[in-house]
Amino acid sequence: MDAPDHAPPVRDGVHVPRRHDSAEKHVAGRAIYADDAPEPPGLLHGAFGLATIAHGRITALDLDPVRAAPGVVAVLSADDVPGENDTGPVARDEVFLAASEAAQSGDVHFHGQPLFLVAAESREAARRAARLAQVSYAEEPAVLSIAQAMEAGSRFGTPYRMARPDAEGRDAPQAIEGAPMRLSGRVEIGGQEHFYLEGQVAMALPGEDGDLHILSSNQHPSECQLIVAHLLGLSAHAVTVEVRRMGGGFGGKETQGNQTAAAAALIAHCTGRPAKLRLDRDDDIVTTGKRHDFVIDWEAGFDATGRIHGICVTQMARCGWSLDLSNAICDRAMFHADNCYYLPAVEIVSHRLRTNTVSNTAFRGFGGPQGMVGIERAMDEIAFALGLDPLAVRRANFYDPPDAGGGRSTTPYHMEVEDCVIAEIVDDLAARTGYEARRGEIRAANASSPVIKRGIALTPVKFGISFTTSFLNQAGALVHIYRDGSVMLNHGGTEMGQGLFIKVAQVAASELGLDLDRVKITATRTDKVPNTSATAASSGSDMNGMAVRDACAKLKARLRGFAARHWKVAEAEVEFLANRVRVGRKTIAWEALIEAAYLARVSLSATGFYATPKIHWDRDAARGRPFYYFAYGAAVTEAAIDTLTGESRILRVDILHDVGRSLNPAVDLGQIEGGFVQGTGWLTSEELWWDDTGRLRTHAPSTYKIPACSDRPRVLNMALWEKGMNRELTIRRSKAVGEPPLMLAISALHALSDAVAAAGDYRRYPGLEAPATPERILAAVERVRDG
Ligand code: MTE
Ligand code: MOS
Repeated sequence: MDAPDHAPPVRDGVHVPRRHDSAEKHVAGRAIYADDAPEPPGLLHGAFGLATIAHGRITALDLDPVRAAPGVVAVLSADDVPGENDTGPVARDEVFLAASEAAQSGDVHFHGQPLFLVAAESREAARRAARLAQVSYAEEPAVLSIAQAMEAGSRFGTPYRMARPDAEGRDAPQAIEGAPMRLSGRVEIGGQEHFYLEGQVAMALPGEDGDLHILSSNQHPSECQLIVAHLLGLSAHAVTVEVRRMGGGFGGKETQGNQTAAAAALIAHCTGRPAKLRLDRDDDIVTTGKRHDFVIDWEAGFDATGRIHGICVTQMARCGWSLDLSNAICDRAMFHADNCYYLPAVEIVSHRLRTNTVSNTAFRGFGGPQGMVGIERAMDEIAFALGLDPLAVRRANFYDPPDAGGGRSTTPYHMEVEDCVIAEIVDDLAARTGYEARRGEIRAANASSPVIKRGIALTPVKFGISFTTSFLNQAGALVHIYRDGSVMLNHGGTEMGQGLFIKVAQVAASELGLDLDRVKITATRTDKVPNTSATAASSGSDMNGMAVRDACAKLKARLRGFAARHWKVAEAEVEFLANRVRVGRKTIAWEALIEAAYLARVSLSATGFYATPKIHWDRDAARGRPFYYFAYGAAVTEAAIDTLTGESRILRVDILHDVGRSLNPAVDLGQIEGGFVQGTGWLTSEELWWDDTGRLRTHAPSTYKIPACSDRPRVLNMALWEKGMNRELTIRRSKAVGEPPLMLAISALHALSDAVAAAGDYRRYPGLEAPATPERILAAVERVRDG
C-alpha cells in the first residue's frame, strides 16, 4: 500500500518542520524524566556493591557491616533472587548479582561488576553502605585488550565469515594476487561512552498480588518487562514497564537500562516498598557497556585508478565479559565493511572477543561506524599510495546507481543495492562546496604555514535500514478517539530526544486530518502495546509510523462506513478534510462526526501493526536481504592541527544527507547535526582508558572529553538532499535518520589525517588512529616527519 498523498492538508502534518513536542519543556526543566516522577511515601533507594578486581572468584564475603550501616533496610545478593539471576538480553550469560552470601562465592568478570544490592532510606545511605562490604578474592589473570584476547583465543563463538567471489569466480585472495597493485594495513578504532545526559534510572512501584509497575529510562520496555519477570519468577502480565522519555539513550539504554530496572524491581519485590535506583555518573560509566573498540586489518588488490579488485578484511571487536548484543553489532560492522563501494571479490572475517571488561553494547550506528572506518581507511591509503585525490578513488569504487545494470551492485552478503544515489549526492556536495579547488588551496597554503596545517576530506555514507535480526522488524500501535474528538496516540517506540513522538504524531495528524493539538502524545507502556522491539536501528519512525497509520486507517474506514450509512451517501462521497469531514454535500466538524459515531455505537479505538516487508537473512549462508533500503549522505570537513601541540580544530563542515521525503525537516536536521557532532567526539576526543588492572580510569567528564559547545564547527552547513525519495514504500517515502549521520564524522578523521600528512609534505601516510586525540596527532606528526 502506497502512502496516500491525497490525505487532507493539515497545519501540522508530515513533511512540515515542527519543533520537538517537548522542546520547551526540555529547556524550561519541566519535562518529566523517570527521576522527576513524584516519589511515593516509603520509597527505598538502591545502590550496587561493585567488584574491585577484573577477574577471579569471591572466596569470602561479609555483608554484615553493610547491613549495620545507618538507614539500610535490606542487603540483597544472588541468594535473594527468586527467579533467574540473569539480565542477559540475547544469551542468558549475564549474571545479575555476582555474589552469593550463603555460598560465600561468586565469579567476577570485570572491575565494577555488581556483586550485591543495598536498599536504604536515602540514596546517600545506600551508596555509603555499599562500600562497607568485606570481600576477599582469588584473582585470576585478566584478558583486557583485543591483542590479549586474540592471543588467548578468548572469544564468543567461532569467527564469522562473509565472502563472495568475483564474476570470474576468483575468491578475494586470488583477486588480490591477480591485481596490478596490493596494499595492506591496520586501523585501530576506540570505543565510546554514551554520555546520555540523563543517566540510568528506574523506579519500581509494587501493586496488588506482587504486580510491579516500573518507570525506566529504557529503549526497550518489552525486554525489560520480560527480564524483570524472569528475575522475579513472575509472568510478564504482572510487570508493566513505562517510559515517557529518556534524556538520551544512543543505544546505551537498548539493553543497559535493564540492570537498573531489575535492581529497583528486586528491592520492591523483596521489601514490598517502592524502590528507586539512579546511578551515580561514575558508576554509570563503569558498570554499563559502551561502543565496541575494534582493530581492523585489511589487504586489497587494486589498479592504477584505485579501483579495488579484491579485498580481505579482518575485524576484531572487544565485546567485554558477556555477549549482550555483540553478535548483531559485529554482524552490522561486517555489513558496513563495504560502505558505498562495490567490492568485486571480498572476504570479511569477524572475531568477537571476550574480555574482562564491561560488556560492550549498542551505540548509534551499532558497529556500522567501525566497519566503515575500516574501508574508508583502505580508500584513503590506496589513494595516498597512488598519489590520487582520495575522492577520486572513492568515486571509482562506488556501487552503481539505480537501474544502471553495470553489474556493480552486489554486496558482500549477496544483496543487490537498488537505491545507490551516493554518486549523485557526492557530485552535488563537491560542487556546492568547491571541494576540488579548496583541496588545492589548502595544499598551497600549507606550504607556507610551518606550524598550523590544514586538511580536507569528503567521505560518503551508506547505511542499511532494518534490524538484521529479521523478527525484530515489527511494531504495534494503539489509537483511541475520545468522545470529544481528541485522540490518544500510543505505540511501541520510545522517545529519547530523537523526535520520534512528534514525527509519529504528525503521521496521525495527517492520516486523520487533524491539527496536532488534538493528538495526545503519551508514554510508551507495555500494557498498551505488547511485545515491541527496542527503539533502535533508526527504525522507530519507519515502523511505528506505519503501525499508527494502520490503526488510523482502520478508524477512518469505520468512520467512513458509519457516515455513509448515517447520512445515506455512498462511501466514496465521504472525504476527510482538515478537522472536518465532507459527507455528500454537507461538511461536518470532526467532533460532530465522532459524537454521532459514538451514539451509533461505533468502536473508536484501534490497534495497528506493521512488519517490514521484503527482508530476509540466512545467517549460516551469509546471504539475503537484511535491509529494506539504505540511507545515504556525504560530508566535507576541513580541519586544522597545531603540529607543536597536536591540538586540532574542525573549521568547516558541509553535509548533504538523504532522508527521503522528510517527515519533519526540523527534527531531521537536528538528528544530522547531533549525529555528526557525536561522531566527531568518538573519532577525535573521547578516549576510554583502562589501566592494567582492568580498571576504567576515564569515568567522569574530568577525564572523558565529549564535544563541548565550543567544539561545534564555526561553519556547519547542513542540507537535506532535495531529491531524496525512498524507492520503497516507507511511511510517506521517508528514510530513517537516527544513526546514519554519525558516520559523516569519518570525514573529520580523514581531514585531520590529511593535515597530518601535510606536516610531512605528503611523503608518508599518517596512519592516524581513532580517536585522533592531541597525543595521537602529535605522534603521527612525528611519524610522517621521521620518514
Ligand atoms: N537522538 C537523540 N537526541 N537522543 C538519542 O538517544 N539515539 C540515536 C538516534 N538519535 C538518540 C538520537 C539512536 S542510537 C537511534 S537507534 C535512533 O535515534 C533511535 O530512534 P529512531 O529509530 O526513532 O530514529
Ligand atoms: Mo541505536 S545504537 O540502534 O539504539
